Amino acid sequence: MPVTDASSNGPWDAKVQQFHGGQDWAHIDNFVEDFSVTTNAFGMPASAKAAATRAIEHSHHYPPADQEPARSSLARFLWPAEAECAAQKDRLILGNGASELIDLVIRMAPAGSWKPGPFRTQYKEYERSARNNGMELLDADSPDKASVACLVNPCNPTGDYLDLPDLKSWIAANVRPGGYVVIDESMQPWHSPEFRAHSLTSQHDYIQQLLEEQGIAVFVVHSWTKLWCCTGLRLGSVVCPSADHMRAIKKAQVPWSVNVIALAFLNAVVADDAYLRRTWEKTPVWRQQTIDRIAEMFPQWECHGRTFLSWIWVDTKSEDVARKAVDLARAAGVPVRSGLPGYNHPTFVRLAVREPEKVGVLIDAWKNL
Ligand SMILES: Cc1ncc(COP(=O)(O)O)c(C=O)c1O
Repeated sequence: MPVTDASSNGPWDAKVQQFHGGQDWAHIDNFVEDFSVTTNAFGMPASAKAAATRAIEHSHHYPPADQEPARSSLARFLWPAEAECAAQKDRLILGNGASELIDLVIRMAPAGSWKPGPFRTQYKEYERSARNNGMELLDADSPDKASVACLVNPCNPTGDYLDLPDLKSWIAANVRPGGYVVIDESMQPWHSPEFRAHSLTSQHDYIQQLLEEQGIAVFVVHSWTKLWCCTGLRLGSVVCPSADHMRAIKKAQVPWSVNVIALAFLNAVVADDAYLRRTWEKTPVWRQQTIDRIAEMFPQWECHGRTFLSWIWVDTKSEDVARKAVDLARAAGVPVRSGLPGYNHPTFVRLAVREPEKVGVLIDAWKNL
């Protein structure tokens, strides 16, 4: 078992670290499936896993300092049109998970106040980083504009999502001139095969205009560890407002932060169209089936979130029921994420979309609720 102390949440040191899901699996003898993380139900894409495995052979060499060719491959994935890719590529940088880049961007941000997105809660690493950097933390509904505003879109864990016009209105209302905006689109590629057109990464003129006219710098963060189910490999990126901002991150970033295995994985995975087609086709179906099974057994529970998402944010309406649901799931080898640690929503649990057979194990475990 991992080292714990009385004030910690499992292996997390509650005094200095932010709680996240995904830690139980290694300590469960009868482990079946991890419902506590928002990773893709289809697991690691086989083609990329093979490329990553082959890359172990090169692990006695340093990774390339320019992150190539993986960085260019990801740029082509984000902007498939050749001219667009050539024009935008220099704004992109890779990181050791999105977490590394979230922290780097917040460290570089102008001092002052920080504000989260408008939802009930959101992924907490932005707040943690802002607090660590001595920023004043504003509430989501504060009327004040912030020096740094961070919105997770789609929002993990609530499942809320702002389409581009609403997202732009939120930016206009919440950021000071000269400030930073960080939009986390880690879960946005689940949207549909047309996800790019709905993404802020396609809004070049808008981003340039904000920078030139108001000095507002927009960063778009992606964690690739969810879409391509590789949390242990650590892969993220940020699209910066300009090549200069990208180079400022590069200057602060520890060299070789993305290892050769993760780079090889990324370079291969962007070509796996079949994996993404399956993701877009099956995720909403399995998600709805899970919601239907929950509704049948617990009509009073409420399931939240957009239909395309890789998870469901469930309000059991009772702290006691939510606690038991978490315990029963863990005991059956199918851990779910409690809404209590970190998010402070004790009646909620978050569960990943998974194949129906695995959902059956979870539903069986909850029969005793
Ligand atoms: C919305 C969001 N952003 C960023 C991250 C960080 O991801 P990683 O550091 O694994 O790339 C996560 C992980 O759960 C997340 O949910």
